[in-house]
Amino acid sequence: MILVTGGAGFIGANFVLDWLAFHDEPVINLDALTYAGNLDNLGSIWGDPRHLFVKGSIADCDLVEDLLRSHRPRAIINFAAESHVDRSIHGPEEFIQTNIVGTFRLLEAVRGFLALQDAAHQESFRFLHVSTDEVYGSLAPAEAAFSEHRKYEPNSPYSASKAASDHLVRAYHHTYGLPVLTTNCSNNYGPYHFPEKLIPLVIHNALAGKQIPIYGDGMQVRDWLFVKDHCSAIRRVLESGKVGETYNVGGRNELTNQSVVNTLCEILDELRPLPHGASYKAQISFVRDRPGHDRRYAIDAAKIERELDWRPNETFDTGIRKTVEWYLANQAWVENVTSGSYRQWIDCQYQ
Ligand code: NAD
Ligand code: TYD
Repeated sequence: MILVTGGAGFIGANFVLDWLAFHDEPVINLDALTYAGNLDNLGSIWGDPRHLFVKGSIADCDLVEDLLRSHRPRAIINFAAESHVDRSIHGPEEFIQTNIVGTFRLLEAVRGFLALQDAAHQESFRFLHVSTDEVYGSLAPAEAAFSEHRKYEPNSPYSASKAASDHLVRAYHHTYGLPVLTTNCSNNYGPYHFPEKLIPLVIHNALAGKQIPIYGDGMQVRDWLFVKDHCSAIRRVLESGKVGETYNVGGRNELTNQSVVNTLCEILDELRPLPHGASYKAQISFVRDRPGHDRRYAIDAAKIERELDWRPNETFDTGIRKTVEWYLANQAWVENVTSGSYRQWIDCQYQ
């Protein structure tokens, strides 16, 4: 039995779906179901006896302690977080509460639980903390990609809160001997990505005939990884990672935002052509830049490739096409998650 937190969100849900496709080992899925958590993401495994969904927060010590005592998981994979940079700029409080206080409470619950376990369980237990490359800050154009030795220089409330959580995880290992692993991954994309992040937002707005907003000059660089490849890296780190170590995960797919948006428009022009040969590119609009916008992220994945023999399966070209196809085939999902509070957020962003 493993315990996944945040398993109704984008990466967590992909992880749970893949886990149950590859293993028989059951999963407890603890998710607070914020705006970013959606039970529709788990529709295909709903009712599967290997999946126990629990609605609740990682910051709820009593609940987490109870789950740990009753199910005695052999591992926790912590995805639960507030994850959107723009939201963290508009309102950082939730990011502090979930990403910092929540992770702290989860670590405390695990520490208490492990103290009561036998030596074999203590030895085999793993706490895998899922983090981001954004903790390293922004790279200059010619600088080498982020390795695990890069110092932390977070620039947004989101990345600062993730950096704080990474430091807590590290401290619980060094101080209390908690058997932790940390992964720092680059930007993910793929199915079930909430349409507030660049790639699903572009697809959504393009199809809805709306403006496709590019912040600033659009020459910022992100290093994209297909979500299923991130999930396979996490499984590999859980299986074979060395306790106390961190692993950077990325697909060596550095692209400017402009180029990502153009690619998406070109795939949509092919798969869902507009009348009279028009292009979705006509909907692109350069808008006010994000405050404190990091210019470039890039991951040096040499350590996980060398030590754990992990490689991504998808190139950006194959992964992005699968992603557009998924969104075209799952418009009902998009409709569902973009109703309600999402509308208020988007309306206040772009009015
Ligand atoms: P997401 O926003 O799609 O999902 C987060 C999930 O956490 C949601 O289901 C939400 O309901 C849940 N959650 C929020 N607060 C909670 C709480 N207090 N208790 C329990 N559940 C709670 O995020 P994502 O993109 O799937 O990211 C998952 C993790 O991966 C995050 O920790 C994020 O920092 C990290 N990460 C994301 C990316 C990326 O590109 N999306 C890249 C690297 C790392
Ligand atoms: P995002 O998907 O929010 O991820 P992150 O900020 O964590 O990297 O944004 C990816 C890049 O796209 C980032 O440089 C900001 C930019 N961006 C836009 O230009 N327009 C948009 O509407 C959004 C959401 C992002």
